[in-house]
Amino acid sequence: MEDFILARALHVIGVVLWIGGMAFVTTVLIPSLKEIRDSTNKLALFEQLEGRFAVQAKVATVVTGISGFYMLEVMNAWDRYQHLEYWWMHLMTLIWLVFTLILFVLEPLFLHRWFHEQAKKNSTEAFSQVHRLHQILLALSLLAVFGAVAGAHGF
Ligand code: HEM
Repeated sequence: MEDFILARALHVIGVVLWIGGMAFVTTVLIPSLKEIRDSTNKLALFEQLEGRFAVQAKVATVVTGISGFYMLEVMNAWDRYQHLEYWWMHLMTLIWLVFTLILFVLEPLFLHRWFHEQAKKNSTEAFSQVHRLHQILLALSLLAVFGAVAGAHGF
């Protein structure tokens, strides 16, 4: 039982570091960078700051995933995936999958290079696109947090 409580606490710390960091990137960092006129400096700064955050996000994703699956196993609640009323379980897992794919596969393989090239060609357009992507992911993540807290506490 104590292990389960510990897993829940670690799960929430993972979510805070990961989704909180993403919120900062989306609502503070990218909008501030968009105001910088020198596109070379802007790109270098973005890559440096986002690169640092990527390490934090990777660790947080792993902690959140392991603690989440551990809780499911302890509760023997895998069948929640078969019921629509647990939509927040589907959403949490989907978000985790998307970020895992982006951080561990797509980013190192080609996304980083692709964004670098796009930003060199048309900086304004590239930063608008990356901002939009972050906004969509943040909105879905916040919906998952809302649904998970409400759902886990009996709503
Ligand atoms: C592999 C992915 C994930 C799995 C398997 C998973 C699993 C779980 C489980 C089993 C619970 C406990 C539910 C209950 O007590 O009824 C939970 C709670 C929660 N999860 Fe996840 N989760 C995952 C990813 C995420 C993500 C990506 C987020 C944030 C966007 C998130 C946010 C939360 C929150 C806020 C709670 C509620 C904690 C509380 O108030 O007690 N989870 N998760």
